[in-house]
Amino acid sequence: MDKIRIRGGKALKGIISISGAKNAALPLMAASLLTEGKLTLSNIPYLADVVTMANLMVQHGVTLHMDEKPASHSSNGRTLTLNARNINNFTAPYNLVRTMRASVLVLGPLLARFGQAKVSLPGGCAIGTRPIDLHLKALEQMGALIELSDGYIHAYVKGRLRGAEITFDTVTVTGTENILMAAVLAEGETTLRNAAREPEVSDLAHCLVKMGADIQGIGSDTLVVRGIEQLKGTEHRVIADRIEAGSYAAAAAITGGDIELRGIDVHILGTVAEKFSEAGVDITPTAEGVRVNRRNGLLGVDVMTQPFPGFPTDMQAQMMALMTVAKGASMITETIFENRFMHVPELSRMGARINVHSASAMIRGVKSLTGAEVMATDLRASVSLVIAALAAKNITVINRVYHLDRGYERLEEKLSACGADIERIHA
Ligand code: EPZ
Repeated sequence: MDKIRIRGGKALKGIISISGAKNAALPLMAASLLTEGKLTLSNIPYLADVVTMANLMVQHGVTLHMDEKPASHSSNGRTLTLNARNINNFTAPYNLVRTMRASVLVLGPLLARFGQAKVSLPGGCAIGTRPIDLHLKALEQMGALIELSDGYIHAYVKGRLRGAEITFDTVTVTGTENILMAAVLAEGETTLRNAAREPEVSDLAHCLVKMGADIQGIGSDTLVVRGIEQLKGTEHRVIADRIEAGSYAAAAAITGGDIELRGIDVHILGTVAEKFSEAGVDITPTAEGVRVNRRNGLLGVDVMTQPFPGFPTDMQAQMMALMTVAKGASMITETIFENRFMHVPELSRMGARINVHSASAMIRGVKSLTGAEVMATDLRASVSLVIAALAAKNITVINRVYHLDRGYERLEEKLSACGADIERIHA
């Protein structure tokens, strides 16, 4: 298993191109199942999860082509064409679903277009139980017959799915995406209340509209979909990854650096930019993206994760790393997942002072961290260790970096181009 070795202490300076959003690319790839037309997606990030989703599409019968690697500093990602004219398999198998929970996003499209789907239950995950009961309840309201047996979801609908009035008990990103994709081909009108408002959900909705779907309320918590008979192919550019951008902003801030993040719009950073400003870090718009630099010292701030437009749970670990060397204390409360503090013991090995009390962590800033051997446990915890290591004295070795490769494209390349002393050790 690869490791990453970082010698901390260098202030990051330079330019980082932000890749397309993983959490937009994955539902967009699943949306190819909704039409026999060709779907062309550009600005696709080359990530392990994208390769897994591509493998899942191919085993359903989708024909798929990805162009070669673009020039290393271009922020154009890769272009993927998908064609689901000949779908011959309606099963999403355990071996793929267990490596990537987002595989459940084939459920809505397969039911909507083919009236059947057999999808492995995703099973547990490091950060929480992450059930999909709300996805299934909504599909049943649309007329699907759902049976759980031998670890699989067996879903079937006689004829077409029917539009319904659906209110999600809790905001669910992939739940909203699954039901949105089910509703666009359903008979009649579907109203989704308490829908997720993440930019990635809106990006999917915009692509579906280009495919011919009738969706009102995009970007709000109430989506109204009038189902149609058939969707056509289209071309769509994946939005930039706001979580990747926030992660590199934290890296610049903790090292006292000054970087430009290209290809990202400050507006989709939402409250992250406001929180960084409270902590003494300016994120200001430029012609090609945003500039990140620290005014003076870092200040401890309180954070509570919330659905968009609140502070994203996917930025919680990165913010915690930043707060470990801020002046004063900060309280970080995780309201979305029940076990998303696994980065805490690893950061503590580097000298951080953190106390966890159920869903809240109290961080008391220290003067500096010291490098150590640490373990990545999940995608965002991994990058929080990279952020801490960039500012820590001496050397940090991060184990199990396959977690990182799921969500960060060319991380070492992007950071070393800004002066970081970072290398991957192939073990
Ligand atoms: C999406 O996961 C993202 N993944 C996650 O990003 C992100 O952390 C999460 O949304 C929250 O923003 C993708 O988009 C591929 P949820 P998702 O359904 O959809 C509960 C990353 O780092 N819930 O919004 O699986 C659930 O347990 C990943 O890129 C139910 O109870 O998350 C959680 O507590 C990690 N029943 C809360 O809702 C359901 O049926 C939010 O989960 C569905 C969800």
